Amino acid sequence: LANGLASTPPMGWNSWNHFGCGVNETIIKETADAIVSTGLSKLGYHYVNIDDCWAEIARDDKGNLVPHKVKFPSGIKALADYVHSKGLKLGIYSDAGYYTCAKKMPGSLGHEEQDAKTFASWGIDYLKYDNCNTDGSKPTVRYPVMTKALMKAGRPIYFSLCEWGDMHPALWGMKVGNSWRTTNDISDNWESMVSRADQNEVYAEYARPGGWNDPDMLEVGNGGMNKSEYIVHFSIWAVSKAPLLIGCDVRNASKDTMEILGNTEVIAVNQDKLGVQAKKVRMLGDLEVWAGPLSDYRVVVLLANRSPVKDTITAHWDDIGLPADSAVTVRDLWEHKTLETKFVNNLTATIDSHSCKMYILKP
Ligand code: DGJ
Repeated sequence: LANGLASTPPMGWNSWNHFGCGVNETIIKETADAIVSTGLSKLGYHYVNIDDCWAEIARDDKGNLVPHKVKFPSGIKALADYVHSKGLKLGIYSDAGYYTCAKKMPGSLGHEEQDAKTFASWGIDYLKYDNCNTDGSKPTVRYPVMTKALMKAGRPIYFSLCEWGDMHPALWGMKVGNSWRTTNDISDNWESMVSRADQNEVYAEYARPGGWNDPDMLEVGNGGMNKSEYIVHFSIWAVSKAPLLIGCDVRNASKDTMEILGNTEVIAVNQDKLGVQAKKVRMLGDLEVWAGPLSDYRVVVLLANRSPVKDTITAHWDDIGLPADSAVTVRDLWEHKTLETKFVNNLTATIDSHSCKMYILKP
């Protein structure tokens, strides 16, 4: 979307994967504090996004959305001021239907201009727009109404289309929003995570600065996968130029979680200015090579072992877009080491089950 935002994929946090409908003002404030105190904000995690269940079920007598009186007693404007004072941005959630998915608050269908103005007046920087309880019309009809409303609201607001991939939003999302979900909801387990990655990969060619494919938010740190599985999760999201929206409780994140979310070399791949989503360039059963170009003639390569046993995987220059016989230096982004020898024609590694290697190759 040509609203000047999302020149690289958005980075931040969202309440849904960990807190669901239990979100409240204290959680948001403490999360903003933690994003700063842990150093995550310095790495680029700027959006603090409230998901479903932040509002009262009834609009006020003028038809305005009303923040839930018990969960958000100070209101959203005060919360935005707080989040902004920390150098962060505040995101909010609504729905392109009559009620949100959790049915605990109204949707914005028929109230698009009014709600966009409300969000802008509160200082909102990001809107996630869900697709539940609609009038049955197509998302291609309902979503652009909010796009126009946001463009007129007087404040740049990142627009996240949460249509779950039903109507192939990659095909129309670029003129409607800054990212579009390509999948149903992720769960905190390996199968769910890799299937989201696969469904999202199909649309790689539609991603570019201004609009990104969204395989759903991160589960890193929520406890359902082991460390190497979370490394695969974060690595695939990074090369896929997916939004990096943390979904765990950052106030209580473990050292392992921080090490994964805080890997600056992996983040730099996600945020690379070329903005090209990596693709699977070779699959041998559960052994996969993902690759994509980066700025300055570099290439990112992800070797992912999805099988239950250790195995070797080879990336061939032919598959990853490097000229035959070119000698490249190889940087291992999880070991934080540049390999000692140059590589010519291919690169092979032995990789544990449900693990990966992530490299930058530089001719
Ligand atoms: C469905 C979305 O896909 C989720 O990410 C979350 O926003 C829930 N709705 C909230 O009800």
